[in-house]
Amino acid sequence: MNQQLASSTTLAVAGVSKTLGGVKLFTEVNLQLQQGQSLAVIGESGSGKSTLLHLMAGLDKPDTGEVYWAGTAIHTLSTNQIAAKRLRHVGLVFQAYYLMPHLTAQQNIELPFLLASEKPDHSRCMQLLEQVGMAHKAGSYPREMSGGEQQRVAIARALALNPPLILADEPTGNLDEDNAERVLQVLLEACSAQGCALVMVTHSAKAASHLNHRLNLADHHLAEFNKA
Ligand SMILES: Nc1ncnc2c1ncn2[C@@H]1O[C@H](COP(=O)(O)OP(=O)(O)O)[C@@H](O)[C@H]1O
Ligand SMILES: [Mg+2]
Repeated sequence: MNQQLASSTTLAVAGVSKTLGGVKLFTEVNLQLQQGQSLAVIGESGSGKSTLLHLMAGLDKPDTGEVYWAGTAIHTLSTNQIAAKRLRHVGLVFQAYYLMPHLTAQQNIELPFLLASEKPDHSRCMQLLEQVGMAHKAGSYPREMSGGEQQRVAIARALALNPPLILADEPTGNLDEDNAERVLQVLLEACSAQGCALVMVTHSAKAASHLNHRLNLADHHLAEFNKA
C-alpha cells in the first residue's frame, strides 16, 4: 500500500492473498474499516472466512499484501510485538466461546487485564457484565451457563480493554435462532456503545443483515454482497 494510512483507519487489509495446503483461498482482498463501522463477510463453509479473520487478527500471515491496525503495518512487528498490540487493539470472539472453564464469568472478563499486567478494573468488569445481561451470573462457571450466556461473557471479555476493533468468527454459529438474535444484538450494542469497529464472518445472510456493510467471499475474491 503506497499511501500513508491514517491512524483513524482502525483496520486496513491491502492486496491480501492466501493459499493453504496448496489450495488458493483468496487473492487481492482489500478493505478499510473506521471506528463505529460494522462489516459482515459472508461466505460458504470452506471459502476462507476464518483464515481471513486470522490474518486480520495477526494470528497468521498473508502470502502477499498487508494488514494495518490504526495505520501500523503489522508485518513490520515481531510476533511478540503483534501479540502485545493485539491485546489492546483487537477483541476476538469465536464460535466456540473459549472461556476458561475453571474461572467464573467475572474472572474470565478480568483475564485481559491480567494478561496486560494491569490490575483488573472491577467496576468496568461489572459494567460489562451488565451490558451483556450477565451480571446475575458473575460468579458462575462456564459449565453452569448456556451457550448463549457463555458467548455473552466472551463478548464482554473481548471488550474488556476497550479495543477499537472486534473480530468475530461465526459468533452465533453454535446457537439456536432466539439465542443467536440476542447475542448478535448484544454484540452490536456493545460495539456501538464503545464506538468499536466490528468485522463478523458468517455463513448466515440473516446474521449478516444486522451489520452496516456486507461483503461476499466467493471464487477467491471479496465482492459486494448481492442477496439472491
Ligand atoms: N492449516 C491449514 N492447512 C491446510 N488447509 C487448511 C488449513 N486451515 C484451513 N484449511 C482449509 O482452507 C479452507 C478454508 O478454511 P477456513 O478459512 O476455515 O474456511 P471457512 O471459515 O470459510 O469455513 C478449507 O478448505 C480448509 O479445509
Ligand atoms: Mg470458519
